[in-house]
Amino acid sequence: MKLNPQKIQAYCPDPVTIHLYDSIDSTNNEAKRRSDDGVCLYATTHQTAGRGRRGHSFYSPKDTGLYMTLSLPLSASSASVQKITCAAAVAVCEAVDTLSEIRPTIKWVNDIYVDGRKAAGILTELISDNSNLPRAVIVGIGMNLCTERFPDEFAANAGNLGDIEINALCGIITAKLIEHFHNPDDNSIIEKYKERSFCIGRAVRYTQKDITHTAKAVDIDDDGGLVVEENGIRTTLNSGEISIIPQ
Ligand code: BTN
Repeated sequence: MKLNPQKIQAYCPDPVTIHLYDSIDSTNNEAKRRSDDGVCLYATTHQTAGRGRRGHSFYSPKDTGLYMTLSLPLSASSASVQKITCAAAVAVCEAVDTLSEIRPTIKWVNDIYVDGRKAAGILTELISDNSNLPRAVIVGIGMNLCTERFPDEFAANAGNLGDIEINALCGIITAKLIEHFHNPDDNSIIEKYKERSFCIGRAVRYTQKDITHTAKAVDIDDDGGLVVEENGIRTTLNSGEISIIPQ
């Protein structure tokens, strides 16, 4: 399992600067530290301090997964952060479709599931300039490929995508994400996201302002928000975490 810049580049029609690492703390951290101009890819097969959403860690053991971050300069696009996360989720699913027999689904907003287990996650963050204005969005994607043993904190819910060729996977995801970034108004991404949804039609639980709600997930709006219905009243969630209530 070895990353190769030429093999990745071969899948990308648009220019992208590629930085590869045998091991690094976190590709999102590296993207923030370097804060390069232009579209840049940072990728590795080992992170020593992989980060997930909401301060969680992302288990990134050596040579069993692909951990990548794409840095996209915001001046070139008006894409919303939430919609970019949706586009990344769709890109991962479509790349896996192309390269394997696995058909992943998406748990809103950023988790990729296989057989009811989380096999990949996405962490989208903004980089700001000296005046605190956002100058780039970084999309970090962690994929368990052959990872089979997980630490106790992840073991109950963690799965993998299987043995997929990493350069093709990395290249296809990069190309799809850059394409979306240059076409932020293309709403077909939301249709594709909905078709993959692991949530729509299911009972979900979420907490807002210290109140825990039980509702039914009914739709994804044009910006990637999750529309839920509770006692006939619809609300759109644009942040936070949901859990699926087993039926
Ligand atoms: C989540 O599941 O909450 C998001 C996980 C995101 C993990 C990826 S791995 C590549 C990039 N670098 C990080 O430190 N995090 C993201």
